[in-house]
Amino acid sequence: MTPAIHHDYRSASAQHKSAMLLSREEIAAKVVSLGREISRDYEGKDPLLLGVLKGSFVFVADLIRQIDIELSVDFIRAQSYYSTASSGHVALTAVPGIPLRDRHVLLVDDIVDTGATVDRIIAYINGQGPASLKVCALLDKPSRRVTPVTIDYLGFTVPGVFVVGYGLDHRQKYRNLPGIYVLEEA
Ligand code: IMP
Ligand code: MG
Repeated sequence: MTPAIHHDYRSASAQHKSAMLLSREEIAAKVVSLGREISRDYEGKDPLLLGVLKGSFVFVADLIRQIDIELSVDFIRAQSYYSTASSGHVALTAVPGIPLRDRHVLLVDDIVDTGATVDRIIAYINGQGPASLKVCALLDKPSRRVTPVTIDYLGFTVPGVFVVGYGLDHRQKYRNLPGIYVLEEA
């Protein structure tokens, strides 16, 4: 499902205009339903939700408060280095402190774009011997995919545009916007 672009423009800064793609209310409603699904699927499994820093921190914070079963939370940090537009090398710059062996790991990311980041992290987690591994992403940009990735719990499919807000940044800015916006040069 591709959400409609709302014609509700507001200024994110002097340099950028942004069109709202997803309101805070739409995101909140989706997070409630994802939390319900995860609570149901992981009942009695004490899942380890593993957020991908930095972009997922807002989503993780809201999502865990919509999950009403026992769980643990940790984070992993990945950085991409692009030699060409389509071939990304991903380095893990911080790995979880909690052992992943025999845990039901749910990887939580903000957006799956080319797929390189999630693919690299999946390989790392699988190397640690988890009991199970699934992926939850707030946003999916399938038009940009290079590496196939299965998303088990998805918030929204978005068009192939650059988005900011709700944890997602452009040069470290706009993470604090409560909704999600398409960034456009002014
Ligand atoms: P990948 O291309 O799937 O490896 O995505 C790498 C990372 O780039 C994502 O986890 C995001 O943090 C970031 N990213 C991709 N698309 C966007 C976007 O539209 N806005 C902000 N960050 C993005
Ligand atoms: Mg990210």
